[in-house]
Formats: sequence, structure tokens, C-alpha cells
Amino acid sequence: MKTNSTFQLFLVLLLLSSTSLSAQEFVNPISIPPLIQYNTEGGYDLDVIQTEHNFSPMSTTDTLNTMVTTFAFEDFNNPGTTSILGPTISWEYGDSLEVSVLNELSENTTTHWHGAHVPQAADGGPHQLILPNGLWEPPTFEVKDKSATMWYHPHAMGLTYRQVQMGLSGMIYVQDPDNDLILSVIHEILPTDYSVNDFPLIFQTKKFKRNGTGDIEIQADQGYKDDYTYMVNGIVDPFLNAPASMIRLRILNGDGKFSFNFNFTFENGNPFPSHLIATDAGYTTRTFEINKILMAPGERTEFLLDLRGLEGEAIYIKNLVSEIPAGVIGNSSTTDNYATDRNLLKIVIGAPAGPPSPIIAFPINLHPSEAPAMSEVSKTRVKTFRQDMFDVSTKPLFNIDSMLMDMMVVNDVVKLDSTEIWTIKNTTGIAHPWHIHDIHFWVTEILENGVALDKTLYPQIFDGPKDNVLVMPGWELSYIATFDDFGTEIMPNNSYMYHCHILPHEDNGMMGQFVVWNGLGNPNTSTEDPALSDRSMTLYPNPTQGLLYLEGASEEKSILRISDLQGRLLSLLTLPRFDGNVGINVSSLPKGMVILEWLSQEGKAVSKVVIE
Ligand code: C2O
Ligand code: CU
Ligand code: CU
Repeated sequence: MKTNSTFQLFLVLLLLSSTSLSAQEFVNPISIPPLIQYNTEGGYDLDVIQTEHNFSPMSTTDTLNTMVTTFAFEDFNNPGTTSILGPTISWEYGDSLEVSVLNELSENTTTHWHGAHVPQAADGGPHQLILPNGLWEPPTFEVKDKSATMWYHPHAMGLTYRQVQMGLSGMIYVQDPDNDLILSVIHEILPTDYSVNDFPLIFQTKKFKRNGTGDIEIQADQGYKDDYTYMVNGIVDPFLNAPASMIRLRILNGDGKFSFNFNFTFENGNPFPSHLIATDAGYTTRTFEINKILMAPGERTEFLLDLRGLEGEAIYIKNLVSEIPAGVIGNSSTTDNYATDRNLLKIVIGAPAGPPSPIIAFPINLHPSEAPAMSEVSKTRVKTFRQDMFDVSTKPLFNIDSMLMDMMVVNDVVKLDSTEIWTIKNTTGIAHPWHIHDIHFWVTEILENGVALDKTLYPQIFDGPKDNVLVMPGWELSYIATFDDFGTEIMPNNSYMYHCHILPHEDNGMMGQFVVWNGLGNPNTSTEDPALSDRSMTLYPNPTQGLLYLEGASEEKSILRISDLQGRLLSLLTLPRFDGNVGINVSSLPKGMVILEWLSQEGKAVSKVVIE
């Protein structure tokens, strides 16, 4: 009896160690996205494509060593250079960008420049929909951001999670401008050679399943208690060859829902000293030695790692799941204990490369804070994360201020050039990452159940500029921000978004809209839902098989919302001005009866159509 159970225990241990060994081979070289070249107009052209990608190309044991259908952004002028994610785009302060995005998918999409201070029409949020085969050419815009690591991803209402899971995301490097003295000095000190000593790292997870014919597919449904595969730059168990030099890592949590608790270690597990130099939207005031950092979806950080003298050794970036606090998606319990402490990236150190670093000791000073002064604040507002029942769903939904996202409702009007304090309260049981478009903010205070956190312990939250921050259950987090530039009249189409960056939450309505108001027009009448008068519309043919015509006229852009009989959003289209009729391709919608709501300045019309 005794021998028997010992033997069983031995077997279990053997099995455990052999699986963990085979999973941690790090045989796949990481892929570094190509750096995009400007086109002749001084901009860039992207294609959104469906393609195929191998997530584990060198593994002899991993069933993922196969081609899997993915989506990717591709440089229009260099086709075939990406099979997942997208090229890294380089922006420089003052550049005038002429951008185009061609949607070659058979579904709607948008392309949002996350973190960028750009006009609404160029923001790529849910209002800038790109229909299948559509070309989006936002008005030329100027880069007003200074050095930062930003990223781009789809943002169509209800489709964001799926399209990000399928592979759509890319990095933006906003390069140090040479007209800012401090930034040009920083540029001289820090590693800046792309893919030599400056590496983009996009951390994500995906769920894979075999379909009926045995092929592996990405599952983009929203459940999270499943086996998720962790990856960096679209590669599972990757190694990165880095020089025995000072290197810079630009880390993006590009996941749809999981937070990661990054931990830098030597091969033997001892902590490796790494130095934070930037948060989401730019440099911190100095370097901070940080060995572990919790990063939520949407957040970016930059680190310096001094690898000088370490040729022949290796270091790891581990996800320390066991130390992810309760309530944060990505800890063990939210993944049915599937997620465990695990190395995500091996950095293999080779011969020195790139110019020698002038840094001889840490800390070093970086950029003084550009946080607005408290004396500038003209208004405070509170946003509350809540979970409530709504009639669109049978289960309670996470939301902001008991409202779900409505494309036609402007939730907040902020005066142009004003400085405000926003307080984000989390009354739910789980942590949600708050993200706001257009501006950058500085966190001024965090109260945890009424008690202030010690700011000096969290430079990654309090020191640098941010646009994305994890708000834990029971927190009241306040930030200060100035809403300069891009003032408009108050119209839903002029909105920027704020939302939870857990993408299924955002897709299900945990999002709101604000307008930076230029003072023209009446703020009271125009923030109301324009569904004032009922009007009629003619839709034909009905039933339809693929194409539907809407007859009527609208002097402004209008919105067509298509939902099923349960009220679930199927598609949301922005229609151009028209007089006569517009054709709408409905072939990708599920068969059966759908409800079409047409929302325009002139009013709202509702009709049912059968799709055959
Ligand atoms: Cu990363 Cu509203 O987006
Ligand atoms: Cu954004
Ligand atoms: Cu959320």
C-alpha cells in the first residue's frame, strides 16, 4: 500500500516535470516586426488582411507548429512581410502624416492609434468604420506627441476583442524630437537602434482549438477559463538574441483581457536588475530599478537592461502569476488555475552590438514631469466602474456610471484647453484598466478603501505620463490632464472614447464618449440623443440575400445600427451624406430577422428585414 502510493506520487512528479520541461524549450526565434518606411507623401499605407501564421515554427513537439489563419496589418508597399500583428510604425514629432488603411477583411474594422494625441477624424475609434474593401484616409494629421511607445489596433464596436485575438495590433515608436533639448540628450544616451539594441515586445495570449477538419484555429469567444497559450510578438516560447550591451525593451501588454506580472530573472531565477525609463506616454523623470511589474491590457513600459559583460548567459522575462493579486484577470483563479508562474521570453546574450552606452551608473535623470499644475484645474468629474443588469443581456454587465456605450450619446463635454481631475472609482469585484483617448494623464492619488497608497512605491503608476491604468477593486484613482487641441462642436461623431481595456468588457459596452468642446453650439440640446422624432425609411429588397438599399436622404453622416431580435449588436455602419439611396452589404450577417435602426440628425427610424 505504502509503496504503491509513493510510486504514484513519483509518477505524477515525473509527468509534471516532463511537461514543464518540454513547454519551456525556447526553440522559436522571436519575430521582430518590420519597421515601416514612409511612402512618398510622407505617410504610410496599411492593409488589413487575412493570412496564415506559424506560432511555433521550430518546435518538434508543439502541435502549434502549423499554419493557422490569422489577421494582420501589412505595409501596403511591402506586401508579404507580416503574418500576424503589424509593422512597427515610426512617428516623429512635427511630422505630417498622410495615412491610409485598406480593409481586405470581409468584416468591418477600424484602426485606432492608441495613445496618440490626434484629431477625432484621425483617431480610428468606433466612428471611423472601414467597411469591407473600404479605404480609410483620415485627414492629414500632425504628430504632436513626443517620445513614447504607442500602438495601434482595431476598435469597431463589438468586434475589437475578436479582431485583436485574430492578430491585429502593431507598435508605434514616437521618436525623440530634435527640437527638444532634453529629449535630444536622452536620445544620445539611450539605445535607439531598432532590433539591434531597441526591441518591441508585444505580450499576448490566445486560445487555440481544432476545427472539424483537424486544423488549428484561433478561438476568439469571450470565456477565459480555458487553456490560453502565451506568446511574445506572435511566437510561443521565443528566444531573443540580444547583444551584451545596454538594451532597451519596449513592452506592450497587447492582450485582450489578461494582466501580466513581469519579472526579470537570471537563468538561476535570481532577480535581474532592470530599469524603468518610460510609462505609456513617455519618459519617467528618472530611471527606477524595478524587478517586477504588473501590466494591464493596453499599458506600455520601457526598460533598460544592462547586459554588458554577460555574453554567453541568458535572462528571462517571467510571468509571476502567483503574485497577481486577487481580482485581477490573469491570476490563477481567473484562468481555472491554468496560468502558473512561467517564463515567457528567454533573452540569449551574444556579442556586443550597437554604439557603446555612455551610462556608467544608475539612476539617471530623464525628462522632468510635464504634469499640469493643480492650480490649473477648473473641473473635477467622477467615473464609476459598476456592474448592473440591463435589458440587452441576461447577466449583469460591467459598465461606467450605469450606462452602456451608445454611439449616439456624448457622455462628457470637456471644454477645450481646460485642465481637469478625473476620479475613477471601482465598485466591482475585479480590476479594470481605464483608458482614455486623445490626452495623457498623470495619476495624482490612489485611495484604496479610503487609504492613500504610497506614491514612491509605484513610480510605474505615478511618475510618468499615462493613458491606460489598472484600477483595482475598492480603488479611487485620480488623475490630472489638460484637454488641449482639436476642439469641435458637440456631436457624437466628434467624440473620443474612454473605456475599460479588457476588450470583451469594452465590446459589451463598458465605454463612453467625450467631446472636447470648442464653445460653439449649444451643449445642452446637442448632447441629447437625437432620436427625437420617428421617421420612416424604405428598405428593399426585403427579404434580401446580400444587398440592401436604404432609400432616403441625410444631410450629415448618419449611423445604421443592425441588431438581432435579442438586441445584440451585429453591425454598426457610418453612412455618408446621401440623397436617394445607399447600398448596404449584409451578406456577412447571420440569416434571419434583423432590426435596423437608422440614426441621423433628422431623427431615428426603425425597421425589420429578413436576411435569407
Ligand atoms: Cu487601445 Cu480605445 O483603445
Ligand atoms: Cu486608445
Ligand atoms: Cu473591465
